Amino acid sequence: MTAHFGDLGYNGVKTGDTLCIGKRTLTFVQTPMVHWPDNMVTYDAYDKILFSNDAFGQHFASSARFDDENDMCEVMHQAHKYYANIVQPYRAQAAAAVKAVRGLGPDALELICPAHGIVWRSHVEDILAAYERFVSGEVEERALVVYDSMWHSTEKIARALVDGFLAAGVPAQLMDLKENHISNVMDVFMDCKYVCVGSPTLNSQMLPTVAGFLTYMKGLSPKNENRVGLAFGSYGWAPMGPKNVAAELEAAGFRMPVDTLAVNWIPGEEQLDAARDAVASLMA
Ligand SMILES: Cc1cc2nc3c(=O)[nH]c(=O)nc-3n(C[C@H](O)[C@H](O)[C@H](O)COP(=O)(O)O)c2cc1C
Repeated sequence: MTAHFGDLGYNGVKTGDTLCIGKRTLTFVQTPMVHWPDNMVTYDAYDKILFSNDAFGQHFASSARFDDENDMCEVMHQAHKYYANIVQPYRAQAAAAVKAVRGLGPDALELICPAHGIVWRSHVEDILAAYERFVSGEVEERALVVYDSMWHSTEKIARALVDGFLAAGVPAQLMDLKENHISNVMDVFMDCKYVCVGSPTLNSQMLPTVAGFLTYMKGLSPKNENRVGLAFGSYGWAPMGPKNVAAELEAAGFRMPVDTLAVNWIPGEEQLDAARDAVASLMA
């Protein structure tokens, strides 16, 4: 604080400390790593307000200040996306913070004011319940197929995988990294049990877009033994693109029950059938 703002005579507070500002007394609770080391929430029992810092926030700017003045589908989506991209690596710490908030009792909260986004007023229970689901680390029987492709060969495999999931009754989302920002991909990723990542081979590597996504994903995704991964992609003479993707998924702690789907040049019907069939083995 001193380095940022100079020495203003700060008086540090810690969990349990209080500050009387008149008829209101503020109580401080440290919530380290939700999502910075110095995170702390403040509770005002007089007004029943929790100033929740990064927890329950959204990257959402609106002239309408309260939840019920906004489109709730959008607000809940933004809260989900914020958790996926900001809070997710600190799931354990976030779980402890949510438990502490619940510990205040059912009538203790009228407003939650996060550091980012709208103020929770009518949907306090909804966002608490949503966070309990987020921090559980549970994944849904859903699939994400994320890829990039220069000339559509890897894309053909991606589409065959989606067909395989849909045929098995599993909702699947196809995301081309040329069209989708990695923060939107992580929003979908968070709930998916199956994550298939595809890249062709470029100069013995995966495409930089895929490498960028995997770097971002690895930082955000706590190891989750419930998550199943599959690497795929096309190559000309040495399948280093899909192979490197597989190595990254393994390093990120995915369960990888199916061999990498590496296809030489353009996939034929037989190889696309094999991709559709691989889905069944992935789900076994
Ligand atoms: C600039 C460039 C570099 C490539 N480097 C490799 C390589 O190092 N190893 C390889 O096996 N294939 C290489 N390829 C071939 C592609 O991997 C192959 O054409 C593949 O089918 C492309 O898949 P896509 O249609 O999904 O982009 C290269 C292609 C291009 C255009």
